[in-house]
Amino acid sequence: MPRGAFIAVEGLDRSGKTTQVTNLETRFQAAGIDVKLLKFPDRTTAIGKMIDAYLRSQSELDDHAIHLLFSANRWELATTIERLLNEGTIVVCDRYAFSGVAFSAAKGLDLDWCRSPDVSLPAPDVTLFLDISPEKARERGGYGEERYEKEELQRKVRTIFSKISGEFSAEKWVTVDAGRSQEDVAADVWSFVEGFAAGVHSPLQRLWT
Ligand code: TYD
Repeated sequence: MPRGAFIAVEGLDRSGKTTQVTNLETRFQAAGIDVKLLKFPDRTTAIGKMIDAYLRSQSELDDHAIHLLFSANRWELATTIERLLNEGTIVVCDRYAFSGVAFSAAKGLDLDWCRSPDVSLPAPDVTLFLDISPEKARERGGYGEERYEKEELQRKVRTIFSKISGEFSAEKWVTVDAGRSQEDVAADVWSFVEGFAAGVHSPLQRLWT
């Protein structure tokens, strides 16, 4: 029996990422396929609550410390992800380790250092990156109130995502122009992932290896 596919969806703020992952979940469900939607950070766990307080500027943390908490928050769910995949369930993640690296490196931390705590986490079979220019994001009403929702940081994050994308083959990393209508983006997203509905025969890979 093939295992479930592991699909990560990354994106800049205002890229419509949450709408698109929800839509993806609905489409897989409508096709009768078991799917589990996970979101990182998962703000419900003890670690997630610390992350939430930091993002809402209710606490201060060293940049390295918060980076490690984001990674620990993924490790909390690593065995669950693996179990679901082995049971044949598709796992869709709203953000994953690439956000971890991109946001922390954009703040000035060393890129390789940023990768290290996530080494050997389950690796997505495909990552969809919803790309939007800061200008388009501004047209959509600008950024929100949380700590990283600032145009200058978002520009840096975008540059680092682009650098990360260069390390992957075109099948593993797909950049989607998210500056278009919701329907157009959804059609593209589906066209890239529908092939995974039947499951994956190759073994699950590990991050950064
Ligand atoms: P998220 O809850 O996805 O916010 P939104 O739905 O508004 O995109 O993510 C919150 C913030 O956390 C976002 O600015 C990206 C950042 N982040 C990191 O800095 N490191 C990480 O490892 C992750 C998963 C997110």
